[in-house]
Amino acid sequence: MTSVTSLFAPIDADLDLLASNLRQLIGARHPILSAAAEHLFGAGGKRLRPAIVLLVSRGTMLDQDITPRHRRLAEIAEMIHTASLVHDDVVDESEVRRSVATVNSLFGNRIAVLAGDFLFAQSSWYLANLDNLTVVKLLSEVIRDFAEGEIRQGLNAFDPSLSMAAYLEKSYYKTASLIANSAKAAGVLSGVSPELAEDLYNYGRHFGLAFQIVDDILDFTASSEVLGKPAGSDLASGNLTAPALYALEEQPALRPLIEREFSQTDDLEKALALIKASNGIQRARDLAATHAKLARSQLTRLKPSHCRQVLADLTDYQLSRVY
Ligand code: IPE
Ligand code: IPE
Ligand code: MG
Ligand code: MG
Repeated sequence: MTSVTSLFAPIDADLDLLASNLRQLIGARHPILSAAAEHLFGAGGKRLRPAIVLLVSRGTMLDQDITPRHRRLAEIAEMIHTASLVHDDVVDESEVRRSVATVNSLFGNRIAVLAGDFLFAQSSWYLANLDNLTVVKLLSEVIRDFAEGEIRQGLNAFDPSLSMAAYLEKSYYKTASLIANSAKAAGVLSGVSPELAEDLYNYGRHFGLAFQIVDDILDFTASSEVLGKPAGSDLASGNLTAPALYALEEQPALRPLIEREFSQTDDLEKALALIKASNGIQRARDLAATHAKLARSQLTRLKPSHCRQVLADLTDYQLSRVY
């Protein structure tokens, strides 16, 4: 499996600069808030969202260097992502993220909610300072969508009649919206045509859907150690993702277990066994592959370059995480 870091070669220096800038940007006035935020930035994630922004930026500025605004946009994307994780861990009551204790487990839910708000607010401020109304609109939508996605997920918990379409829509709001809108915004900052901007949006949308489906499969198939966050928790908390939804179509015995919220002894184990015995995980892989392919197919209008190739390779890389 190619490592994601080797794919990031054309933007290695950009990502180093991003890491040091992010710490400065947090610059919180209150030590607890900055400690909470610093904690997560320090732990470091895969930096996939800023990487996509930087690859699109370089791929659309072939004869020139990228601008400070492109860099700031990449930083904002990672800041919004991190804020959403801080809130997501409160909602999911998760104790570990990026292999370190979560903000909520270290500082409590009240501080974690405020720390997430602080990061969202801080990212909005930097966003406004880009002085580009189109970009401000694109990224504000993301913050709204994230809340919408979390609310939908909460409302649909333990509902076995949840449709695949509703699951994908929720996943767009929670995950794909950020990747789609920030990829498009990077193109907008480069002054691309409206058609190419739309392709970049669709690249991010399909990429993000595939990414969330892969994350949802890994919740069934990977260990907490490998993921750096708790595995096996989606089903237990009633978050019905692609593998479970497909399994429900094949295994009617799964439905009553979910409906009674796994309240009887061994319900959860039985449900997991039913899902693993079904074609749910394979069908979810196929669905992720379909979206990864659709993402790749959006890149034809972009001029051929090393960065375009990496954007295409990233779609395969993320699938390789579930094979
Ligand atoms: C986690 O995103 C949240 C999802 C959308 C599934 P990442 O897996 O990109 O998290 P980090 O940034 O690498 O920790
Ligand atoms: C994605 O969903 C989270 C965000 C977009 C914030 P998950 O709930 O699956 O993310 P993990 O698994 O906790 O990283
Ligand atoms: Mg979560
Ligand atoms: Mg997950």
